[in-house]
Amino acid sequence: MRILVLHGPNLNRLGRREPEVYGRTTLAEVDEQIRALAASLGVETRHLQSNHEGVLIDAIHAADDDCDGIVFNPGAFTHYSYALRDALASIRKPCVEVHLSDIHKREAWRRVSVLSEVCVAQIVGRGPASYLDGLTLLVERLKAQP
Ligand code: DQA
Repeated sequence: MRILVLHGPNLNRLGRREPEVYGRTTLAEVDEQIRALAASLGVETRHLQSNHEGVLIDAIHAADDDCDGIVFNPGAFTHYSYALRDALASIRKPCVEVHLSDIHKREAWRRVSVLSEVCVAQIVGRGPASYLDGLTLLVERLKAQP
């Protein structure tokens, strides 16, 4: 089983970016934690971070052919990217939306996700563990499929 782990804009700055909100763990360290969990679950992960909407869209399209599901932190695109929403709606593979912070307890504009309706779950507010919970949930769901 292969899972695409997708990180959206500004997540390359984790560790240095607003540490009081996002913590001090770097993206490389988050990816390391995800890979360790993936190994224990017996699945392979592919990781991509991009600050560009089109690159994320292309990766989602490609995942339909070569991955079983997606764990996606869309960053600020969460709140307004109908193009990403359409991309997720265009594929047959499930996507779990994850956020380090609890977007529901932040500014009003962050409380809206235009992607949640095309994702199978949304996990927020657990820091890097949001990704780990997202991966666990996705893999359990895929393994339960007939
Ligand atoms: C985020 C929350 C978004 O509102 C923000 O724009 C991000 C990170 C999170 O992981 O908490 O870039 O997706």
